[in-house]
Amino acid sequence: MEIQLWREMLNPYGLAVKEVTTKFENLMKEHRDRGVYCPIERVEGRVKTVSSILNKCQKKKIPLQDMEKRISDLAGVRIICQFVEDIDKVVEIIKDRKDMEVRQERDYIRNAKESGYRSYHMIINYTVYTLQGPKPLTMEVQIRTMAMNFWATIEHSLQYKYRKNIPDDIRKRLLNAADAVLMLDHEMSSVRSEIMDVQNSFQIQANIVADILNNIQNLYKVANKREIAKIQDEFYRVYSTNNIDRLERFNKQLDIIAEGYRAQSVPMGADAM
Ligand code: GTP
Ligand code: MG
Repeated sequence: MEIQLWREMLNPYGLAVKEVTTKFENLMKEHRDRGVYCPIERVEGRVKTVSSILNKCQKKKIPLQDMEKRISDLAGVRIICQFVEDIDKVVEIIKDRKDMEVRQERDYIRNAKESGYRSYHMIINYTVYTLQGPKPLTMEVQIRTMAMNFWATIEHSLQYKYRKNIPDDIRKRLLNAADAVLMLDHEMSSVRSEIMDVQNSFQIQANIVADILNNIQNLYKVANKREIAKIQDEFYRVYSTNNIDRLERFNKQLDIIAEGYRAQSVPMGADAM
């Protein structure tokens, strides 16, 4: 196949990776904006490299013209979670979506691979739209914890280094490390609710402060200097009390002040927009 054709063939897969990554990143943002805990910590995506496609076709005796049908991970997205429990949440989120249709699931978390590998895999159908019209394709979604990701990354590098023939002693150490990862995830789960609480209140506070600064900035345009200075001093005072409720009340007061200025500045008969 000509180089140009490879590019063309892989283009929609690149688009799919971009779109799906963006969709999950947006979910993360929505959680942040609302100050609720997000089961997703990070999203990564990639299109399989030509060299790794050729490798796979050779190994699995797949004719090049069949690769789109037979290789389901030309497009791949990886979702990294903090806690094992988050993985099920993400699986549910994906299953509930109309734009991603689950075709296959492999639970290497409850059934780890012989290597010690743990991760939740889904093959999904996803449609992108190009100049040629709709193009349905398949993607692989891997969902795993940060700890599982650490292990898989190291193990993958070793596989690469030893061309899949990892020496027995290293294999054994990797299996030990996989046990340690299992235990780490388990221990972390036991403090999950506390961590979620802290992260939540941290996010809520960050959102309120951002809101307050926004309000103050807007007031700069309309209020007089003395009033602004008073508001700023009050903000620092409230902030230093470390009390989210007080911050929130202060922000509400700012909203009312800002609203007052807005009411004054609306010209008669102006179209409401
Ligand atoms: P391939 O392994 O890709 O040929 O497809 P498969 O049909 O066997 O699917 P499987 O679910 O076993 O693996 C798909 C992907 O998961 C791989 O391409 C890797 O990214 C990852 N994976 C599977 N097993 C392992 C493993 O033992 N170690 C690491 N590091 N990654 C793995
Ligand atoms: Mg495999």
